[in-house]
Amino acid sequence: MKIAGVKGMNDVLPGEVARWQEMEQVAREVFALYGYREVRTPAVEHAQLFARGVGEATDIVNKEMYVFEDKGEELLALRPEGTAGTVRAFIEHGAFVEGPQKWFYLGPMFRRERPQKGRYRQFHQIGCEAFGIAEPGIDAEQIALLADYLGRLGVTAELKLNSVGDQACRPAYLAELKAYLTARKAQLCPDCNDRIERNPLRVLDCKVESCQPVLDGAPRLLDRLCDGCRTHLDQVKGALDALGVAYRIEPRLVRGLDYYVRTAYEFTSDALGAQSAVAGGGRYDGLVETLGGPPTPGIGFALGEERLALILEKLGRAPPERRPAVFLVSADAAGAAEALRRAAELRRAGIACELDARGGKLKAQFKQAERVGARWAVVLGGAEVESGQAKLKDLRSREETPVALADLATRVRG
Ligand code: HAM
Repeated sequence: MKIAGVKGMNDVLPGEVARWQEMEQVAREVFALYGYREVRTPAVEHAQLFARGVGEATDIVNKEMYVFEDKGEELLALRPEGTAGTVRAFIEHGAFVEGPQKWFYLGPMFRRERPQKGRYRQFHQIGCEAFGIAEPGIDAEQIALLADYLGRLGVTAELKLNSVGDQACRPAYLAELKAYLTARKAQLCPDCNDRIERNPLRVLDCKVESCQPVLDGAPRLLDRLCDGCRTHLDQVKGALDALGVAYRIEPRLVRGLDYYVRTAYEFTSDALGAQSAVAGGGRYDGLVETLGGPPTPGIGFALGEERLALILEKLGRAPPERRPAVFLVSADAAGAAEALRRAAELRRAGIACELDARGGKLKAQFKQAERVGARWAVVLGGAEVESGQAKLKDLRSREETPVALADLATRVRG
């Protein structure tokens, strides 16, 4: 019986993996330049962590989370995002005593969404979280880091920036928004109607055409920010200007997670179609406290690796796969034994080489050498073993030159 993979969960095959390695390698390099250190947390957490951290009323927790009972003992969940688990680890290990911390992570996340291009049920995020700094300088630095990272990969994405307010200004705004939306219920889609009570901010995010006139006329939080939030936003903008990072203020940008205050942002790309956000993040000053830690400001983002891979693919950017330098072809049993020994020797010297362990005809072995993309081939048989001399074939020019087996490593290196 053939068993297929789970819907919305993808394989990354060897031919595509070089691109993934590049995305991750560049992330590690850039993040290190900004002082972020890697943290690894489990893919499974207590479901409660996300209910409290991400928010009971969010689609992510409410509709999309994979939750299971662990042998009737406790309710666990596959992590739908990385921030809650990172904050849990930050608190659990008392990392806050050491002052401000900058951490990053990468790995799989799980959301039971309706799969489509750029939206999957298992996807991978690369994320950064900075703890302990309330000042807007860190917001700007982190956004610049993300812009720097995307730039190094040759990706142009648009930065959309907003403030989602805080406890001082948001409650009054939400009441005003709710009243506005309730009065126009009939003009809004069923999803919006659903959200008016549960999560009114998210209504602003609706993409349904017929809802747009109502949403365009909705009161804007941006015009009702308290002094603290207004100054914070102005300072973030000023720092981004100073750093030369272009942005667009998007008053209707709201994020799908409840923990955000003040700064919220997304990087979007036209190359992605409907699921246009390649990365998103913002400030979450109350989250550490909500999850049982001391009051600690925080800000972070996560980038979707599948979406970034789609953009890179569209740009036609494919990092080269590593090919073997040399392919050892065996002409007979003595040659096959020698090939095994020489291969071990070359690999010890750090030279990638292959041989066809099936043996077989010379022609078939040469074909295999071409298929794996080897640069050189050497035929080994009884005569070569005896004389210690063989022919080195350049598989590009087809030229053959004599080589002493003892010099093989030197000749094929590089
Ligand atoms: P998020 O906006 O839910 O934020 O996800 C961040 C990124 O993950 C998205 O911009 C997108 O590229 C990718 N992504 C999300 N869902 C999917 C999916 N179903 N399939 C493919 N890619 C997806 C967060 O998760 C926050 N934890 C970010 C953050 C960190 N905020 C503060 N710190």
